[in-house]
Amino acid sequence: MEFSDVENDLAEILLTEEEIHAKIEELARAIEADHQGEKILLVGVLRGAVMVMADLARALKVDIEMDWMAVSSYGAGTQSSGVVRILKDLDSDLTGRRVLIVEDIIDSGLTLSWLRANLESRGAKTVEICALLRKPDALKVEVDVTYIGFDIPNKFVVGYGLDYAEQYRNLRGVAVLAPHVYE
Ligand code: PRP
Repeated sequence: MEFSDVENDLAEILLTEEEIHAKIEELARAIEADHQGEKILLVGVLRGAVMVMADLARALKVDIEMDWMAVSSYGAGTQSSGVVRILKDLDSDLTGRRVLIVEDIIDSGLTLSWLRANLESRGAKTVEICALLRKPDALKVEVDVTYIGFDIPNKFVVGYGLDYAEQYRNLRGVAVLAPHVYE
């Protein structure tokens, strides 16, 4: 889906498909350089990370493995509580592995902070994070992110995996949702 297909729903275009792909190539080169000779296990966090996972995996010029987790934050409404429930766990054994968590966005940071500790406790050699987007003004906990794409304003963004009520995930770029859509 293009921006023009839903232009009345969008307030501002933040990142085009081209800008995202250029950044993912950059991140892939950095990841390759840091993992020479060691196979990386990419862990995608469903569902938002599907697009970034698909593009990052293909941008990498080395063999990787992929696995997926689905998690849900306990708590009322849209506020992340930091207490996370595993809806779908990994199939892989992490012992001795170099794990790279692949995320679409870091908002409060609570999900990733919990997830990283959880994966570290399973005996991985390293657990690092690659996130395409981060909202510095929304962070509630510091998250040590090794590979970050873009810092963005604390606004409601959709596209490239990010949804509003399960819509707009298939938008090619990232845009700020117009308030009339959710008000
Ligand atoms: C989003 C995103 C992260 C999390 C970040 O997922 O993909 O997993 O929120 O928020 P936090 O930093 O405040 O913890 P969401 O729960 O919306 O599920 P989805 O990926 O299925 O859209």
